[in-house]
Amino acid sequence: MLKDQIHTIIAQALEELNLSSDKLNINPPNNESFGDYATNIALQLAKSEKKNPMELAQLILDAIKPSGVIEKGEVMKPGFINIYVGKNKLIENLSQIAENKIEIPQVNNGKKIIVEYSSPNIAKPFTVGHLRSTIIGDTIANILESTGATIYRDNHLGDWGTQFGKLIYAIKEWGNEDEIKNAQSPVKVLVNLYVKFHTEAEKNPDLEIEGRKWFKKLEDGDKEARRLWTQSIEWSWTEFDRLYKQLGIKTESFENNGRGYGESYFEDKMDPVIEELKDKKILQESKGAWLVFFPNEKFPPMMLVKQDGATLYATRDLATDKFRLNKYGKDVIIINEVGAEQSLYFNQLYEVEKMAGWVKEGQRIHIKHGMFRFKDSKMSTRKGNTIWLEDVLEEAKNRALTLAKDEVIPDVAASVAYGALKWNDLKRSAHMDIVFDWDELLNMQGNSGPYVQYTYVRCKSVLDKCHPEAKPKDPGKHGFFANEDELSLLRTLSKYSETVLDSAQSFAPNYLCLYLYDLSQKYNLFYQKHKILKAENEEVKQMRLTITKAVANVLQHGLTLLGIQTVEKM
Ligand code: ARG
Repeated sequence: MLKDQIHTIIAQALEELNLSSDKLNINPPNNESFGDYATNIALQLAKSEKKNPMELAQLILDAIKPSGVIEKGEVMKPGFINIYVGKNKLIENLSQIAENKIEIPQVNNGKKIIVEYSSPNIAKPFTVGHLRSTIIGDTIANILESTGATIYRDNHLGDWGTQFGKLIYAIKEWGNEDEIKNAQSPVKVLVNLYVKFHTEAEKNPDLEIEGRKWFKKLEDGDKEARRLWTQSIEWSWTEFDRLYKQLGIKTESFENNGRGYGESYFEDKMDPVIEELKDKKILQESKGAWLVFFPNEKFPPMMLVKQDGATLYATRDLATDKFRLNKYGKDVIIINEVGAEQSLYFNQLYEVEKMAGWVKEGQRIHIKHGMFRFKDSKMSTRKGNTIWLEDVLEEAKNRALTLAKDEVIPDVAASVAYGALKWNDLKRSAHMDIVFDWDELLNMQGNSGPYVQYTYVRCKSVLDKCHPEAKPKDPGKHGFFANEDELSLLRTLSKYSETVLDSAQSFAPNYLCLYLYDLSQKYNLFYQKHKILKAENEEVKQMRLTITKAVANVLQHGLTLLGIQTVEKM
């Protein structure tokens, strides 16, 4: 990476001056006209060195050995050093990318990371909340993988809990298994049955007892209870799987044969955990229930066993993590991509795991996503105003079909539609709420998936007309001079790898989106201003084709990390 090379060169200069490079940071400046990179090291050191920052910056700059990497530097108030990368270096880099040699620094080599995402609930809607978790989680997994980590993709399906007692009762009382099985959406039928249970229970509270009875039966292994529960999982999974496939999620990469370790997997793994926490005096009894009370009431108490002996979501999560630490190794990093509304819950969970001595600081990570709002409705299973993902996907596809000009192949429309949905989610920091706006989502001129996909199509159509040599001739020898627009693209291209790295280190796919959007804008500007195929001479033409090829490669690479398909025509 160029950034690393520059870091090394400046660190050498500092060493020669007997200055420490501990605080040396190299970053792109806010404004491109200030060069490729800038460092504030002189400002950092001025105080301890008792020097004027501007003078110190000049001293450091003078000590930097001229090389192909750093073409020139300049000192800028109040003490920054701006660095300009040599054109030849940029062109060398361009040629590599044009040959599709994109090297992402393998900083996570040897690290094992579990990325748990999606995790919808059986017999409940696959909501747009789960869509966010699926999209963001999948991308985070891809990005981390590209930096060398070994990734285990997990899906913590909500397939256990007292609600299944109620569901079984409702199926037996008011349901028809054939009807559920053959329904267009079996989950919708199951949700309706579950809702009916609640409306009926309001009139007849005895139903709650019935529900508990059926859950007890389920726990005790009653044949009929197990059968209906297993059925509910299968009915729901078929539907979820269809959605995953539409979204291009490779379910086969989920642990445990492509489904993930759902909550029920831990049914028989909770007791030892409860015992361990009791032994460690972390779990305490209160009125027959068992709770964790946090020191200094850092968090509200967390219940792990109810009065009636039933376990909870949290109990299963603890058993899950204990299992993971045993199976994948005690240093495995565990990431949960889950809505921000569960923040307190995950804080409590991580705290218990630290108290129990299972994990170290920073080993458990909650990547939170904000809410998805369609005007005013908030998602809720009970109130019946749920937004079903399936409907959103369908709508997106229809809109994408009308968006495109002539005869669009439905496959392309689907790729564009899902690309638009994903981009809309990924382009902003995950924790932010999204107000869903179809026009923004599919806006071909703006910061949207289709815009970036279209830029790729544009590059491809240029390249289809003429196959460039992968390498432009040595620009030094041939007196090549790149114009500002080309240079700007070259500079941007040279920052791709470090952008992926930044995204990985901050778990922030939005950095990558921002980069790809910027690259697209620059390419489109260049495309509008300059002739490519009819350039003034062969040399310039080859250079512009090489740039086009490199842009296409980077867009393809980046979109793939984001789980977005490129299309050849639009
Ligand atoms: N099934 C849960 C829900 O839909 C999400 C699970 C998140 N993961 C976890 N390990 N608790 O809200």
